[in-house]
Amino acid sequence: MAQLWGGRFTKETDALVTAFNESLSFDKRLAEQDILGSIAHAAMLSAQGIVSPEEGELLIEGLENLNKQLESGELKIEGDYEDIHSFMEAKLTELIGDAGKKLHTGRSRNDQVALDMRLYIRGSIDDTADLITGLMHTILHIMEENVHTYMPGFTHLQKAQPITLAHHFGAYFEMFRRDYERLLSIRDRMNVCPLGSGALAGTTYPLDREMTAHLLEFDGPCDNSIDGVSDRDYVIEYLDALSIMMMHMSRLSEEIIIWNSNEYRFIELDDTYATGSSIMPQKKNPDIAELIRGKTGRVYGALLALLTTMKGLPLAYNKDMQEDKEQTFDAIDTVQDSLRLMTGMLAASSFNADRMERSAQQGFSNATDAADYLVRKGIPFRDAHGIIGRLVLLCIERGISMDELPLEDYRAECDAFDKDIYEAISLKTCVERRLTRGAPGAVGAEISNAKAYMDMIDQLNGDVFNDEEEEENTDE
Ligand code: ARG
Repeated sequence: MAQLWGGRFTKETDALVTAFNESLSFDKRLAEQDILGSIAHAAMLSAQGIVSPEEGELLIEGLENLNKQLESGELKIEGDYEDIHSFMEAKLTELIGDAGKKLHTGRSRNDQVALDMRLYIRGSIDDTADLITGLMHTILHIMEENVHTYMPGFTHLQKAQPITLAHHFGAYFEMFRRDYERLLSIRDRMNVCPLGSGALAGTTYPLDREMTAHLLEFDGPCDNSIDGVSDRDYVIEYLDALSIMMMHMSRLSEEIIIWNSNEYRFIELDDTYATGSSIMPQKKNPDIAELIRGKTGRVYGALLALLTTMKGLPLAYNKDMQEDKEQTFDAIDTVQDSLRLMTGMLAASSFNADRMERSAQQGFSNATDAADYLVRKGIPFRDAHGIIGRLVLLCIERGISMDELPLEDYRAECDAFDKDIYEAISLKTCVERRLTRGAPGAVGAEISNAKAYMDMIDQLNGDVFNDEEEEENTDE
């Protein structure tokens, strides 16, 4: 195996050791980050006179060349190398000759891998933030379309009080808004550059850590070299944010699955997002929702695995930390695909407003409102609760809803009832009377707030994009 060490060894490594130790098979994902980090390092080495300007130029040109080959697919990451760092250094040296061997001056693989991983996670956070923004847009659209789609709200999975589909989805909007904000705060906290920490104790070379941090768009270099190479908090925080996000998508999936059942039929999944059965021709299964719900476990697994890996590690770098990658990459892929699929599935679904409304009518979800009606007529709430309870029982016995119960039956129980009871317990009234902030009757204000929030995000993202374009223009 081509490796970066060997001077002090007299025997070949055992084959299983080599296989167990290697990380190229999975850290090849860090190829681009490895090259970008090396370009910044080489530029700094040259600016500080640690390598000559000619050597610096050679290194940077070589690295940029490798980056182009990587993008075009010409550079195949394979072969007998220990990890992506050894691989890149070997390829660079093949390309530019002995100058390539100077790249690692004042650097250790410990700060190199710490940098690569940080760059990767930072980029991944940005991608995930984009995807979740897409999902929030889709949810907001469903809210806007369904302000008058009445449905039962549930507690204990029992019909509780009438709400609207807009209000129900508003709850998910809030969850994903928190997920989005969690990503921003993690990104903010993690944006410090470990490069220059060396193996653990910095180096004796006059490195300009501010320069590399700036070139790689960090807020600055980290303050402690030991922490620089040992910190994986940001990976754990990211996995934590991804786990919560999956938990949210899993809850939504669960509702889609219930709503798609023959008993509910609240939602109609588009054929493009459903699957069939090999034996039962009538089936249209919500496999995608089930898989999102199911895959939540492996994302939690990645979080638990890394927390466990890190808990016993003495400072500073230990090889255990190589375990921060495989499951993290898997969790990222799982969450990003789940976000894409959830967004597509919701956008393509239709909701069965009639069935939802009928379901709300049939489940006595307006019983609280009937009690409130009596309270407005001067009956104490506790008595009203008992009266309505008895009337509900009567309706259950007759197999009818409260809207269908004749007025004389109402009046037989309590003479405070009048014919305006029917208007008072209509779904529309039940929803529209709930006007306090955050309640279904105030969903209009909720939607305007959500819209303003999305406009702010879009503008922010648009501005970043425009800045980049402007920068490109001034370069020309
Ligand atoms: N493959 C290693 C990792 O992912 C790179 C760092 C190796 N450092 C070392 N001192 N062996 O953590």
